[in-house]
Amino acid sequence: MKILSIETSCDDTGTTIFEAKGGIQNASFKVLADNSNSQIKIHIPYGGVYPMLAKREHTKNLPILLKASLREAKLDKRNRKNKKNKPPVDAIAVTYGPGLEIALWAGITFAQDLAQKWDVPLIPVNHMEGHIVSIFGKNNIEKNERKFKISKLKTPILSLLVSGGHTQLVLSKKWMEYEIIGESVDDAVGEAFDKVARMIGLPYPGGPQISKLAEEARLQNKKRGIKLPRPMLHSKNFNFSFSGLKTAVLYLIREIAPNGKLTKKQKRDIALEFENAAIECLTYKTAKAIDKYKIKTLIVSGGVAANKHLKNEMLKVTGHAKGWAGKKIKLLFPTRELSTDNSLMIGIAGYLRFIKQKGKFGPVQSVKANGRLRLS
Ligand code: KG4
Ligand code: ZN
Repeated sequence: MKILSIETSCDDTGTTIFEAKGGIQNASFKVLADNSNSQIKIHIPYGGVYPMLAKREHTKNLPILLKASLREAKLDKRNRKNKKNKPPVDAIAVTYGPGLEIALWAGITFAQDLAQKWDVPLIPVNHMEGHIVSIFGKNNIEKNERKFKISKLKTPILSLLVSGGHTQLVLSKKWMEYEIIGESVDDAVGEAFDKVARMIGLPYPGGPQISKLAEEARLQNKKRGIKLPRPMLHSKNFNFSFSGLKTAVLYLIREIAPNGKLTKKQKRDIALEFENAAIECLTYKTAKAIDKYKIKTLIVSGGVAANKHLKNEMLKVTGHAKGWAGKKIKLLFPTRELSTDNSLMIGIAGYLRFIKQKGKFGPVQSVKANGRLRLS
């Protein structure tokens, strides 16, 4: 079947068209078209995503991206014999939460209009399930066929979801069933990266910038005189807290640079210690959950999954570090392109949901945005 998928939960607009077959256990995808637009440059002056602007950009770009995708997939009017026919798309998948509600609505209303016009089912997709299944996506630049065997993924599966809006540890005793066993009680880890970056004068989005500075500092391998806290590291549950860490950076800056002007060395020191602290919190709780639930597969996804230090630490936790003689568990990361928001992952989740629900979905107009939607 051919699926069109749409993503507008934050500041990325995306439309993907692919051919899917094989059912849940043996799904395979052939990407026919994949088009996206990042709004990062537009939001830079605001130091974060400005919701009204995000909505305006999604609404403006969706018809343009759809047109490009239909043409790329050779499903546009020029490539159809009967010009009056609708394109041969069998279903539309759209993100309905979590995210910025006003941005989600831009995608939902667009998808609803199309689903009605083309008379196809509308599959509402949880953005976080999209991040989990993003590990199955092929690098979207290469349009090769991608097959995967879900039946080969050993359960229980643990997913560490780390993005600008979420920090969650999700347990799946069975594939596509979710229990949130831990999450941030305040800021998401990506949000903390972005806020600390702003404090030390780096542009939005700060995650990659902090990570770059931290890597430079790590390579220098010098002794650094600063120490930041690891909030909730030894709490009994699997929760996280990043707001206190961010405030500790603020106080540290006031102490070492009362005039607010940090030297390049000070910025590097802060970036390194902040990254070490944040990633240590994620790693420690993940390792604890792996032990407690006897996890066989670990998935790490979301924007922060692009972080190199996080990847290295997760390799250690799952037994893939050099010299480890113990038992290894499977570790899966999405490709770099698919770690941040994209419509390909929404399409994959949409196809799996379509099969699981045997193609039965409510009326198109019943799909509503839910900014606080949770996995269950
Ligand atoms: O999943 P995503 O694209 O959007 C949300 O759903 O939030 O994640 C974006 C977040 C931002 O906070 C960004 O700073 C962070 O991911 N990020 C990183 C890195 N690359 C992106 N954080 C740390 N290190 C990175 N290399
Ligand atoms: Zn996301």
